[in-house]
Amino acid sequence: EEDVEVASVTTSPSRPSKLRRHRKLKALLLSKYDSVWNTTVALGWTPYTADQPGGSKYNVCWSDTSVSLERIMKMGRIQKINHFPGMLELVRKAGTARNLNKMLGAIGKDYKFYPQTFMLPADYTALKQEWTNGKNHGNKTFIIKPSKGCQGTGIQLTRCLDDISPHEPNIVQRYLHRPHLLEGFKYDLRIYVLLSSVQPLRIFLFKEGLVRVCTQKYAPLEKNMSDVRMHLTNYAINKGSEAFVQPEDDTECSDAHKRTVSSLMRTLEEDGHDTKKLWEQIGQVCVKTIISVKPHLQHTYFTCRGRSEDAGSGCFELLGFDIMMDSKLRPFLLEVNHSPSFTCDSPLDLAVKSAVLKSTMELVSFSKEEY
Ligand SMILES: Nc1ncnc2c1ncn2[C@@H]1O[C@H](COP(=O)(O)OP(=O)(O)O)[C@@H](O)[C@H]1O
Ligand SMILES: [Mg+2]
Repeated sequence: EEDVEVASVTTSPSRPSKLRRHRKLKALLLSKYDSVWNTTVALGWTPYTADQPGGSKYNVCWSDTSVSLERIMKMGRIQKINHFPGMLELVRKAGTARNLNKMLGAIGKDYKFYPQTFMLPADYTALKQEWTNGKNHGNKTFIIKPSKGCQGTGIQLTRCLDDISPHEPNIVQRYLHRPHLLEGFKYDLRIYVLLSSVQPLRIFLFKEGLVRVCTQKYAPLEKNMSDVRMHLTNYAINKGSEAFVQPEDDTECSDAHKRTVSSLMRTLEEDGHDTKKLWEQIGQVCVKTIISVKPHLQHTYFTCRGRSEDAGSGCFELLGFDIMMDSKLRPFLLEVNHSPSFTCDSPLDLAVKSAVLKSTMELVSFSKEEY
């Protein structure tokens, strides 16, 4: 019943897109990523650095980090920036947890795609209660994540409440101990989602994304809970392993530790799984997650931008959803990233990320009607 527009995007880096708008745009790039620079150039846009004269007259600004409210307030009618004000409410681990827990309480089972999560220190008493009174108590594994962590740093698994400090600002989450495996290895998905407007809520789901596979076989036991390359799928954690195999390219990746989502879907299909249903469920996870912060995003956006002053939406955001499936192939949300990495360490990275960037930039460039 939500007022949401959702579309899927099939990226094709080689063919020119029908959506291409033949205008030379000025892009202010506050970005360290070559792929961001190269994509703007490939689109025929003119890239500017922060200290280059003329940069403030940009049509599109791309920043690797979130931007100040002041910058958003100062934007002209036909300027766009790649972050929404108020997005931290969704992309910080504590924000995701707060909003999805609220939805679970209000709506119920439709929000069960997020593992049970406690925000410390506030939820410590509830966590303690869950530990002692919950069904199957003492036998559950929890994953502790620093609230502002990324790339798997500082993450720890535990079955012992004493390992968890009541005072630190951590996220403590039920560990999904029966993940779906690829040849015995745990993996997760990086799904790219473009939010191009909050009123109406307009969401694009990229059909191509990344699959990140662990480098140590999954055989969970109490004694190997600290083997991060068995339990954490982050590229930053696994790339240093001797076992790590970089993909040759985006078509030859079925034995590599980084694969494309389309290659994963082919493998699952060969194993007899219903990938159409899976993809639908993944899309629902992404959309429902964004809906959980819709009022907040709308409120913050219209606080910064008067309702009539924008031609179209002045902000957009390319989000990276971390999604993992359990052994029954049910997708779960692990976290949402507002600055997904655009580092390209392999031809596969380059193919997937450039295509996502290119489609994003095309989708957000103003059409004639918006002037
Ligand atoms: N609840 C969970 N159950 C099982 N594995 C998890 C869970 N949460 C995180 N992980 C694993 O840990 C990795 C890192 O967690 P994530 O929440 O994405 O934090 P980070 O910001 O450090 O990437 C995930 O990619 C996944 O492999
Ligand atoms: Mg992550």
